[in-house]
Amino acid sequence: MASESVTKGFRFNHTGIRVAHLENILCCSQEQNLSKIHKDCPMDRFVKLCFTVPDIDATMKHFKSINVNIVKDAGTAENQEVAASFLGCFPSAEVKCEIESAPIPEPKDKQVLIKVVVSGSNPKDWKVPTWAAEYNGPDNDSWQTKAKSGMNHGDDIAGVVEKVGKDVIAFKTEQKGDRVGAFHEMQAPGGSYAEYGLAWEHTTFHLPASTSFEEAATIPLAALTAAVAVFKNLKLPTPWLPATESTPFIVYGASSSVGSYAIKLARNSNIHPIIAVAGKGTPHVESLLDRSKGDAVFDYRKGTEETIKGIRAHLKSGKYGEVRHGLDPGIGEPSKQVLTEIVVSDGAINLVLPSDWDTGKIAKTKTTVGSVHTVDNSGSGDNHNLGLVTCRWFTEALEKGTFTAHPYEVRPGGLEAVQQALQDLKDGKNSASKYVFRIADTPGL
Ligand SMILES: NC(=O)c1ccc[n+]([C@@H]2O[C@H](COP(=O)([O-])OP(=O)(O)OC[C@H]3O[C@@H](n4cnc5c(N)ncnc54)[C@H](OP(=O)(O)O)[C@@H]3O)[C@@H](O)[C@H]2O)c1
Repeated sequence: MASESVTKGFRFNHTGIRVAHLENILCCSQEQNLSKIHKDCPMDRFVKLCFTVPDIDATMKHFKSINVNIVKDAGTAENQEVAASFLGCFPSAEVKCEIESAPIPEPKDKQVLIKVVVSGSNPKDWKVPTWAAEYNGPDNDSWQTKAKSGMNHGDDIAGVVEKVGKDVIAFKTEQKGDRVGAFHEMQAPGGSYAEYGLAWEHTTFHLPASTSFEEAATIPLAALTAAVAVFKNLKLPTPWLPATESTPFIVYGASSSVGSYAIKLARNSNIHPIIAVAGKGTPHVESLLDRSKGDAVFDYRKGTEETIKGIRAHLKSGKYGEVRHGLDPGIGEPSKQVLTEIVVSDGAINLVLPSDWDTGKIAKTKTTVGSVHTVDNSGSGDNHNLGLVTCRWFTEALEKGTFTAHPYEVRPGGLEAVQQALQDLKDGKNSASKYVFRIADTPGL
């Protein structure tokens, strides 16, 4: 017999969580990264559900009616009233970019106005508008409401200081404005996909002459994310208080921007051996490592078992001891098994995407880069000072050459290229590479 509400009262077998509404399951599972179907459904909001319901036909009909894409159809299992297993996802909203004219933003007292020469890009630039488009909550001050009506989602600024707020100390505009890189506050006015962008003084850094604007545009958001993950959440040594003993550290997804910057920060902090896991981007990752200190890279395309076996053999042969720290720089499900197998049970894993992974006794923390601007609710706390110190350190480390930019690809057409580049990011086309845009390349500017 069909239940009154087909979405109520079923069991979520995979995690054992009891939830009353499908919407809650989709919400709590939204970051589960089932890479197998990622190519078919190129977005994060997909789920694998296995549960019992009183009326499977009605349930599936309901799922379809709320636009869940059914990738694998329901089946039945013995000794259960009705059982179903399927993979589904919400259809993704199209991300559309439009170029418009707007007043030059005015810096607040502790902000700088930057003439953007090159803008970088990040996966969130397509994710946030996609999530916002699906938002049906109250019309309030939330980021979803703000993003739903359209906004400039660029956060990586490289350019020249044009104007400073009255309380800014570190930057100037006289004669020739300072060359800077800067992390724009996400979902705030003055984004980097523009001729002029805004940034807070403490997340703006001077560029040495040897650093190009293209290089600088790859750094702000991803490198600060790595800093919050490595220094704050994993509490690993810093470049200004480096490690004095062997500190094995595993980074899964090492060729991603966040993963690569985590490795670069770790090396500056004398953290070794670095155990990196990458795929197509392995040659890039290899170039970041110091083999003489036990660093090594393992190819996840060989499969999870092979990867774990290879890492264990390496740790044993070099007598490197236990791995106490692991980082998932936003890869999700595929890294779970490797990290939880390699990191010791009283160790620590940091996740750069929100996830409901069960890490058992291993301490789990989550990183939100926005915590360098605002206090976040996911445990990263207030990282204003970490952002400030790291940005000052970027300048010097770039100058000395101990810290370098991520590889990049300049997308021809300036701002006109943003939409296709975000689509390519969404489709997972970039490997060990950032897409950047020279604003002056925009036709008509
Ligand atoms: N919470 C936060 O504050 C925050 C901040 C920044 C980023 N993020 C999130 O973190 C994630 C990474 O961001 P990003 O800018 O670093 O991304 P990215 O540079 O665009 O990542 C691309 C890389 O991902 C790697 N990759 C893809 N699938 C993989 C898999 N199954 N296993 C291992 N590596 C895989 C690829 O490696 P190969 O080519 O080697 O296969 C590629 O080099 C994104 O989801 C982003 O939204 C969150």
